[in-house]
Amino acid sequence: MNARLIDGKAIANVVRTEVAANVACAGFTPGLAVVLVGDDPASAVYVRTKDKAARDAGIEARTIRLPANADEIDVVGAVRKLNQDPTVDGILVQMPLPKHINALVVIEAVDPAKDVDGFHPLNVGLLTEGRPALVPCTPRGVMKLLEVAGIGVSGARTIVLGRSSIVGRPMASLLLAANATVTIAHSRTRNLPAECRRADIVVAAVGRAEMVRADWIRTGATIIDVGINRLPDGRLTGDAAFAECAQVAGAITPVPGGVGPMTVACLLENTLAAALRRRSP
Ligand code: GUN
Repeated sequence: MNARLIDGKAIANVVRTEVAANVACAGFTPGLAVVLVGDDPASAVYVRTKDKAARDAGIEARTIRLPANADEIDVVGAVRKLNQDPTVDGILVQMPLPKHINALVVIEAVDPAKDVDGFHPLNVGLLTEGRPALVPCTPRGVMKLLEVAGIGVSGARTIVLGRSSIVGRPMASLLLAANATVTIAHSRTRNLPAECRRADIVVAAVGRAEMVRADWIRTGATIIDVGINRLPDGRLTGDAAFAECAQVAGAITPVPGGVGPMTVACLLENTLAAALRRRSP
């Protein structure tokens, strides 16, 4: 392996310690409410992780669980109740929602001032304009990783693989706001390997195990791997073929232990930011 490993776990721990220190001297206890609908096992694990991380940082966390057969009115009703609750500063509705529920309707029901996921159209619009308010946690975590790892973004050629609302699109907006040249690639992109080879920074967020190969990577480029995929043998792997890509790249994030812990850390940052903003005149 030639590439430098970007240790997301260690960087996330620094961020979490900073948030905990700021919460301790804030003079109030921020509140985070996580809404979990149904019993998707992966979502249950993510929600438990977020809940524990929030508590560890001194944030009062609660999880509102709704059954898989809850309808849109039930979920929107739970969100509205949290909007009205003065002890709640941040609301997160864990995705994906069961198929019979329109996620857009639920996201739009969240008070934009409490939207710690940054998914509400108002926050999406502000980010697109380069006036970020609450920014989606995973792309925010990626920017922090790049910053701490000392990888220059301004003027860099970057490619984002994937155009999801949770990662790809907000990631592109943040890179653009940081003065990168940004390409967004997706399932219809022609000659993806060639597009990738032009990039100084590759952010892979497609959810396909080990799709990015070594010969897609320019020597010395940075790979930020957002993918978390389970292989048939149970192991977790990213969107990049780690062992071979690490021979070519200059820096790379591992899976697990790369972007994942940063998502959680940035959720805590967003919760504190929302709490402070709601209390400022
Ligand atoms: N599912 C996968 N990633 C996320 C995320 O960042 N927020 C929420 N709410 N759900 C997710």
